[in-house]
Amino acid sequence: MDSRLNSLSGLLGGPVLVTGHTGFKGTWLTLLLEQLGVEVVGYSLAPEIDSLYTRLGRQRKILEEYADIRDLASVQNFIKRTRPTAIIHLAAQPLVIESYKTPRETFETNVLGTVNLLDSAFQSTSTKAFLSITTDKVYKNDNLGQAFKESDALSGKDPYSASKVGSEAAIAAWQQIAKSLGGPRVVATRAGNVIGGGDWAKDRLMPDLIRGFSRGEVVQVRNPLSTRPWQHVLDPLIGYLLTLQEVLKGNHIESINFGPIETSLAVKEVVEIASDRWGASAVVKVETSTGSVLEASKLELDSLLAIQLLDWKPAWDQKKAIQTTIDWWKGFFIEKENPYNLCRRDIEFALKCISS
Ligand SMILES: NC(=O)c1ccc[n+]([C@@H]2O[C@H](COP(=O)([O-])OP(=O)(O)OC[C@H]3O[C@@H](n4cnc5c(N)ncnc54)[C@H](O)[C@@H]3O)[C@@H](O)[C@H]2O)c1
Repeated sequence: MDSRLNSLSGLLGGPVLVTGHTGFKGTWLTLLLEQLGVEVVGYSLAPEIDSLYTRLGRQRKILEEYADIRDLASVQNFIKRTRPTAIIHLAAQPLVIESYKTPRETFETNVLGTVNLLDSAFQSTSTKAFLSITTDKVYKNDNLGQAFKESDALSGKDPYSASKVGSEAAIAAWQQIAKSLGGPRVVATRAGNVIGGGDWAKDRLMPDLIRGFSRGEVVQVRNPLSTRPWQHVLDPLIGYLLTLQEVLKGNHIESINFGPIETSLAVKEVVEIASDRWGASAVVKVETSTGSVLEASKLELDSLLAIQLLDWKPAWDQKKAIQTTIDWWKGFFIEKENPYNLCRRDIEFALKCISS
């Protein structure tokens, strides 16, 4: 298949290090890179039992290390040994609710971990590009519903968002170092809540729904009126790789958003679409609360830069992304399909959408 990412492997000429490769986005990213003929090496903590990585049996499928990004010597050694051309840094403590319980660890992992990776990348003679995966939650959000542009102010209220703003401060510092002293090109990529087959994280809407649907239990849902830029996991991942390709060609990008094109859906609408697709056995109890102090209630991203610069556009709108996610899980739980084939089907569809 002739996709616009076909030149990536040649431009790289060496491996991509994916940190967080045992996580949800990291597993999908590894599969996508493999499909594009790119060698991947991985550095992460050991996988969780019900993760997509484990369900796919990904252990030892690539050169990988289960270790902590807070351990500088270990990060340095791994980069020295594997000589990646590019680093896509996903490893993080990514959960807002968890960050209230473990704020210090969240900051250590998300800020110091990013600093360790950046510092090690700048000591490596092989690394040409560094993409750090942050989030739409880095923008200063007054819950007014405006769509954030890359140039908007950053500020995080909850510990997770604040730690990602901290990681952005480190990214900006190393971008300045690259300008003054040379070094890899560093980019911050910001995307919203992703969904897709295989996500089993706690306190996330879609995994909570799937856990309940697959066990025949009633699902309790909070904050029905909150909106989020829901998108299929492959849409920002393809955006990250188009960004990487552009940067490797010598073009300059410092930060870039990847969000849905249409207005964000409310939690209530997501629940309706997901329940309809699963079928009559899906039972959801929506709490009538109008909001929570723990998470921002309105969030929109402006992706114009990605559209204009990279000709990027989502392969799925939000409704189809939800339906595709439910189809993946129905295939897995009900039809007992091989999860590899389910992932492959979605990857081929997404690549077809950016075919030249
Ligand atoms: N999932 C989303 O909706 C979403 C939205 C916006 C941004 N992001 C960002 O994308 C990235 C990946 O998120 P995800 O949903 O795949 O999360 P995940 O929890 O599924 O995966 C996290 C990964 O990071 C690794 N990790 C965590 N702490 C580590 C440490 N101390 N040392 C080494 N590895 C460590 C884990 O082993 C795992 O591989 C994160 O940076 C997250 O902030 C995710």
